[in-house]
Amino acid sequence: MPNPQDRSPMISLRGITKSFPGVLANDHIDLDIFSSEIHALLGENGAGKSTLMKILFGFYRADAGEIRLSGKPISIRSPRDARSARIGMVFQDLNLIPAFTVAENIALFLPNLKVVLNPQEIDNRINEISKQYGLAVNPRALVSQLSIGEQQKVEILKLLLSDARLLILDEPTRVLAPHEVEALFGVLDNLRKDGYAIVLITHKMKEVLQCADRITVLRSGRVAGTLLRSEATEEKLVKLMFEKALSGLKITESKRDESSKPILELRGIETRAEGAGVTLKGIDLQVRSGEIVGVAGVSGNGQKELCDVVLGMTTCVRGEKYLFEQNLTNRSVGAMRRKGVGFIPENPLAMASIPFMTVLENMALPHTWRYARYGGFAIDWKSLKEDIQKTEKQLGFSVNFYAIAKSLSGGNLQRMVILREMTHDPHLIIASYLTRGLDMQSAIAARQALIQARERGAGILFISEDLEELFMLSDRLLVLYGGRFVGEFKPSETNIYEVGHLMTGSKVEHVG
Ligand SMILES: Nc1ncnc2c1ncn2[C@@H]1O[C@H](COP(=O)(O)OP(=O)(O)OP(=O)(O)O)[C@@H](O)[C@H]1O
Ligand SMILES: [Mg+2]
Repeated sequence: MPNPQDRSPMISLRGITKSFPGVLANDHIDLDIFSSEIHALLGENGAGKSTLMKILFGFYRADAGEIRLSGKPISIRSPRDARSARIGMVFQDLNLIPAFTVAENIALFLPNLKVVLNPQEIDNRINEISKQYGLAVNPRALVSQLSIGEQQKVEILKLLLSDARLLILDEPTRVLAPHEVEALFGVLDNLRKDGYAIVLITHKMKEVLQCADRITVLRSGRVAGTLLRSEATEEKLVKLMFEKALSGLKITESKRDESSKPILELRGIETRAEGAGVTLKGIDLQVRSGEIVGVAGVSGNGQKELCDVVLGMTTCVRGEKYLFEQNLTNRSVGAMRRKGVGFIPENPLAMASIPFMTVLENMALPHTWRYARYGGFAIDWKSLKEDIQKTEKQLGFSVNFYAIAKSLSGGNLQRMVILREMTHDPHLIIASYLTRGLDMQSAIAARQALIQARERGAGILFISEDLEELFMLSDRLLVLYGGRFVGEFKPSETNIYEVGHLMTGSKVEHVG
């Protein structure tokens, strides 16, 4: 690949500056984006990546600075302006309409009304483009029935059909299974060959080094550096991001005692699927004090349903659930909370926070009974703050207590939930995709927090798609596929390939 900088840029950002109350999110940022390049944007949580791209997409307006298209200054005041400059963006949270079909979602987005009126024509255009770039989806399928990976393909198709030439993807791999990531990179590679420019925001170093042509690192709202992939190493990028090398994870020995009574026990649990959900069948599970039980699986195979059953957010039609030997089958979430269960859900904005409340108010939510004073008419904010600050010190990351939850960056929201749930030393922790959206430093801190919790005797149910992380942390590893556990291992007695096969439902010839 020749150095893209030998040509003139498709888009140039000059001096882009944007502040929000109390935060300088972008501070005089210069950035060039060329055709036929995948440009990775890296940086710690809150560094200003999403803000910068939302400015380019016309979602926010910069306080100062200039955007040039092929050298000429342009004004982008709205996503509509961005679209006419052929700039498209897929947000961190996808926003398709679930009750509509793929074709309807795409038609809604296309400015050209004539196309909307002819369903056959739009099906043909979808099929044509999807064939060309390996983005196979059925135009007639309902979006609610598509996996996240498929929905993402629809989002990309939407942009291609609307004639975008610059595609901005904000953490597209955050919620993708490993095989979906491979497929996405295949698509991006094809697009690059056809002259598209792609900006890829990600926290995954491997992905950056695998597919980016150039890499820009942001730190505290400024450009810390831009490197060609050929000159980039993980070490250099980490240094640019955090100004220091990262300390590794300290893994201590597990103190689990197999003869001890389990903290959590599920016996023969069965659920009935709601909507497009998965049915759990014959789920037996024990989590003991001092152990991390990993659940490996491709998301959508019952992970959400498993968490819902454990927490009491869904009822089971068969089987029993015990917490500290007490039968709590089909009891409320509150009953579980009061017994010291911490929960880090897969979607913190929808499932673990009230977006328009402040961080501190959100921190109080699951613990209102603990901090209620004067018969429930007041909250003891000072004690709450002190407790959270203690956890911040232990974990080594913090959040702004007075920010509105929905204004937090993706990773900072995840940090908020982790801090809240780790406060009060929960006896049982249900952690779903713990490190999603976290930068490398925070991901290490979050994993370290689980190890600390194990050390003081907590039991942990750890759900993840990241096999490396599962093998690193789990004392026992269960594989979830199609709503059933299809394998149980000690990590030392299996390997990534065996578990990977079971996760995807393919049989393994030799087990053990
Ligand atoms: N609408 C908003 N209102 C107030 N503050 C905001 C808003 N959007 C972003 N911010 C703040 O601007 C800063 C940069 O946020 P941004 O979302 O750009 O970070 P990021 O680099 O994308 O981080 P992450 O990796 O966590 O997604 C953060 O401190 C964030 O809280
Ligand atoms: Mg972001």
